[in-house]
Amino acid sequence: MESHGEELLRAQTHVWNHIFKFISSMSLRCAIDLGIPDVIHSYGQPMPLSELIASLPIHHAKTCFIYRLMRILTHSGFFSEHNVTENELEVRYVLTDASKLLLKDHHSGMSSLLQLIVDPVYINPWFQFSNWFTNEDPTPFHTQNGMTFWDLATCEPKFNKLFNEAMASHTEWVSSVVVEKCKGLFKGLESLVDVGGGTGTMAKVIAKSFPQLKCTVLDLPHVVANLQGTENVKYVGGDMFEAIPSADCIMLKWVLHNWNDEECVTILKKCKEAINRGDGKVIIIDLVMENKKEDDKLTQTQLFFDMQMLVFFTGKERNEKEWANLIHSAGFSNYKITPSVGLVSIIEVCP
Ligand SMILES: C[S@@+](CC[C@H](N)C(=O)[O-])C[C@H]1O[C@@H](n2cnc3c(N)ncnc32)[C@H](O)[C@@H]1O
Repeated sequence: MESHGEELLRAQTHVWNHIFKFISSMSLRCAIDLGIPDVIHSYGQPMPLSELIASLPIHHAKTCFIYRLMRILTHSGFFSEHNVTENELEVRYVLTDASKLLLKDHHSGMSSLLQLIVDPVYINPWFQFSNWFTNEDPTPFHTQNGMTFWDLATCEPKFNKLFNEAMASHTEWVSSVVVEKCKGLFKGLESLVDVGGGTGTMAKVIAKSFPQLKCTVLDLPHVVANLQGTENVKYVGGDMFEAIPSADCIMLKWVLHNWNDEECVTILKKCKEAINRGDGKVIIIDLVMENKKEDDKLTQTQLFFDMQMLVFFTGKERNEKEWANLIHSAGFSNYKITPSVGLVSIIEVCP
């Protein structure tokens, strides 16, 4: 009887935990909006709760609630309590490795990604998820907004800016790691096109490290409108399904996971046509799904990404076999995967 009671409690807790999972991201967003990690960081030593409260832009009637916000975020690993002893009068907080990534100026760009993903435009389509299973719309996002993600970004400048800035801040970090750790990737290349390259963060970092390389950023006209190129970085507004400028190397970072297999094969075939020399290549930077049983959090994060692709785009996250199928279907002969740069991997594809 007793073990039945324990099993029931475990099952019930599991359900409650999942019902309330959104509270984790919403509480984290609240802490970022209030600037809590940056305030603790600037303090430079374990920060007493009273000092933290005094430094936050909040109404005096709300001061007593900060402790409860800090308590749940401490439990979920974003802050830790420093040397709390029975005699100590008040809690002091320090940042953890996770909240350091959420500092406004941290080069990982995680804070901008959080603001984007926990934005109403990103949350609302989830309410259409089950409806979408019963209708003909391509995505729940479409059911919610009556248009594709990219069409909404075209006609809502505020959302376009939020999205492009979040992409750019994260890409800055990924590009510096790619350039630092994978110098060989760019050896001997004279030209590169970053397809769906956003506002050009990746291209600028590559061009700075490899001045011999002429880089072109191809993206939708509303993304590259009014952007100033440099001697080594040129912007082209266009549609990758129509035409891709030719170059020694075509890059696709965080692009193919937005599209279904058929669309990806079309894009990859266009890339193949655009490669202008026999030893040219395509560099794909994207997630490669792995099932590492020993790292449950990583697996869950990959599954979250995949659901995100399902709800917003026609795309998906792919394992190595699925990537290989796409690459071969587009007529490429070979590929090589270099293990992750953070959550993404580099897939070098040869014609
Ligand atoms: C997920 S974002 C990735 C941006 C950038 N590569 C990065 O990683 O920061 C996908 C990009 O594809 C662009 N895009 C979508 N449809 C496109 C099309 N038909 N032709 C060219 N670019 C497109 C979007 O505007 C967006 O900048």
